[in-house]
Amino acid sequence: MMEHVWLTVLGLSGLLTLAVLVWPLAARLSFPYTVMLAAIGCAIGYLEHVLTQGMNIGILSDMLDALHALDITSETILFVFLPALVFESALAIDVRRLMEDIAPILMLAVVGLLISTVVVGLALQAVTGMALLVCLLLGAIVSATDPVAVVAIFKDLGAPKRLAILVEGESLFNDATAIVVFTILSAMVLGESDAGALAGIAAFAKVFFGGIAVGYILARIFTGLMEWLGDAVLPKITLTLTLAYLSFLLAEHYLHVSGVMAVVTASLVLGSRGRSIFSRDGWHEMEGVWEQVGFLANSVIFVLVGIAVPGIMAEFTATHFVWLGALVLAAFTARFALIFGLVPVLAKIGWAQAVAVGYRAVMFWGGLRGAVSLALALAVMENDGFSPEIRSFVGTLVTGFVLVTLAVNATTVQLVMKAFGLDKLSAVDLAVRDRALSLGLAGVGTSLSDVARLSDLPESLASKVSQPYQKRADQAAAESGGEAATISHEAWLQVGLKVMTAREQQTYQDQFDQGLISSETMRRLLRGVNDLQDGIKAGGRQGYETADANTLKLGWQMAAAAQLQRRIGLTGPLTRQLAQRFEYLRATTMGLRALAEEQMVNESAQPELASELGEILQARLADHTAALQCLRAAYPEYAAGLEEALLEQIAVRLEYAEYKSMLAQSAISKEVYSDLKREVDAHAAKIQRPTLDLGLEAHKLVQNMPFFAGLPEDQQKEVCRMLKPRLVLPGEQVITQGERGDCMYFISSGAARVVLDPADVILGRGDFFGEMALLEDAPRKVSVVSEGFTDLLTLFTKDFRTLLARHPELKSEIEAVARERA
Ligand code: CMP
Repeated sequence: MMEHVWLTVLGLSGLLTLAVLVWPLAARLSFPYTVMLAAIGCAIGYLEHVLTQGMNIGILSDMLDALHALDITSETILFVFLPALVFESALAIDVRRLMEDIAPILMLAVVGLLISTVVVGLALQAVTGMALLVCLLLGAIVSATDPVAVVAIFKDLGAPKRLAILVEGESLFNDATAIVVFTILSAMVLGESDAGALAGIAAFAKVFFGGIAVGYILARIFTGLMEWLGDAVLPKITLTLTLAYLSFLLAEHYLHVSGVMAVVTASLVLGSRGRSIFSRDGWHEMEGVWEQVGFLANSVIFVLVGIAVPGIMAEFTATHFVWLGALVLAAFTARFALIFGLVPVLAKIGWAQAVAVGYRAVMFWGGLRGAVSLALALAVMENDGFSPEIRSFVGTLVTGFVLVTLAVNATTVQLVMKAFGLDKLSAVDLAVRDRALSLGLAGVGTSLSDVARLSDLPESLASKVSQPYQKRADQAAAESGGEAATISHEAWLQVGLKVMTAREQQTYQDQFDQGLISSETMRRLLRGVNDLQDGIKAGGRQGYETADANTLKLGWQMAAAAQLQRRIGLTGPLTRQLAQRFEYLRATTMGLRALAEEQMVNESAQPELASELGEILQARLADHTAALQCLRAAYPEYAAGLEEALLEQIAVRLEYAEYKSMLAQSAISKEVYSDLKREVDAHAAKIQRPTLDLGLEAHKLVQNMPFFAGLPEDQQKEVCRMLKPRLVLPGEQVITQGERGDCMYFISSGAARVVLDPADVILGRGDFFGEMALLEDAPRKVSVVSEGFTDLLTLFTKDFRTLLARHPELKSEIEAVARERA
């Protein structure tokens, strides 16, 4: 056994060393790296065939032996490589964008895969005369497009975002479908089940959605754990790795649902919540780790797959060539029909946005097959239950087909993209690019002369070198001016708003990285930013402003929490909602203010827009400040406490930063730094945020009311029992004109506006309202609306009568006020 371990290590390290040596070559020839790896693998596999006979050249033959011993199995691909590869590709997907195109993606991935399976199966049966079930099995195997192969190529080519999402999304989801269909069909071929079509569909739905559920639940648990781990980046990254494998195993092995769907879902959840769990550096670190894992897995798997090819292809005969031809034809015809037939229909019936012809062409041609198809083919070849004939049929044809897509499609998809101009920038992007170019180049010129002066080089030399830069800068400026003129003001404004929103997100990320906001608030902020972006996309400036107004609204959660307090006296949820709103508004006002300052500095980048963007920003800032002010007015002590804690936290961060920069400049040693850091840590641990106290107890609120001040203490207590505290939200209608009234209100803090004809009347602390309906037993005369967060004491009719009967002096006071109002 020991022997095998070192052999495996040797094999893997040798293989990886070889693999990365191919990298520069692939880059130079702008040839897909993965395809080149597969080619190298084939060459090694071939050498192995020829060289292993009797020769012994030390480490080299050991290495070949080792590679031979690495003999890849379907299980290795499925359980070791697939989770990592799928997780990595799904991590880069923007869930919101995915959801925008989810209909065509799922349609292609599920219905499309089934159709393709049937078409390929029938065609193969007609050509080869093999049993239909076997042909269908092969159809399912070759219908799974491979995210790995496609994603790698798209990354290299810089494909448009939406196109990438369509293709990657389809590839991820149809892997899951293919594996499920494969499992069902192979059980049927092996005679282990004779499920009909209906049972098959039910089984499929269970497996597909079961996988999603497993991935979702596990990811929520894991992200919760990560939040709990706080600043510790390495353990958190480790959890992302274990999440990938555990979700796959739990789903596939224990619960018998789709492992791929579980991994995809888990990764999407992590991707969408990640920015509220990791600091920016932490997130980059994690992305880096995953990129590395993906790179390793890709490098190993494509070489290993390549190595297996010569062995499998040894059985290849002339008949196989004909069959392979038929397979290629059938598979591509089916794909063509799906993409040019199904996708436009979806757009017609309104299930999906239209997909441009160029995109469809790339989707058609870029449907590569790779690791998943091979893993499933290997699973057939390793299974003695299948007859040798079936095993060689599936093995040779699938391997041949994968090679065709890698050799032909992967190497030419670039040309298809070029043909449809998909590697080009849009008009707006082009104008932005040229402006960036002119700014950048001009900067180079000035810096160069500074450098020349500092290093005592003749000015003439500097100007000689910088001259071409200046020329290009001028040219770019001229071009960008021309381009900019062709773009409408709306389009420019959209670009400007997009940039501004992206910067806004960064200001929140800065605050989050400094520990100033909680994960929960960060998620809310990010949601707000996403809504703004959607708003811009849908309706430019107006969409942006509407989206912002919506983020400021008190949501249903707040309303529900207020109801809970009123109905059953539960204050917990309301307190939480208010504290969260505090934190949220504090973060937005701070972010927007930082942005506003920056905006003034950055005017040069978008001169024609600067003032308009500035205006929009100022208006937003004013709205957010007003909303925050409204809360502050209601809870001044809490606000002050919160702000103090915040400043202390910032001070701690600043102290950290000082020591860090001293360390970076070698002014202090690492030991001294650690010692200082410990001290700061201890200080930071002591900072406490205040807890919000709504103060919604009758006896506290009654103290604010001069109205009851004259009563002796025991009677005050009795009054307290009659009065029910309630917090009303800004803008909430407390009394509606014309309704029947069953209570009156005392204002303990805050203010209410009585809606009257010439001018509204504002009632404040100590005032009461709603007495007229009770006194006269008449409908409400006018409406009353709460101005801010207002604490009221409610007195219901029955208690009202009791109170007035017992206290004639209060009765006459209320009556006097009512008379005056009438
Ligand atoms: P009611 O009619 O029960 O409901 C509406 C309330 O608005 C009313 O009782 C008074 O408490 C209050 N209200 C009506 N008119 C005035 C006014 N002129 N000034 C202040 N408050 C008023």
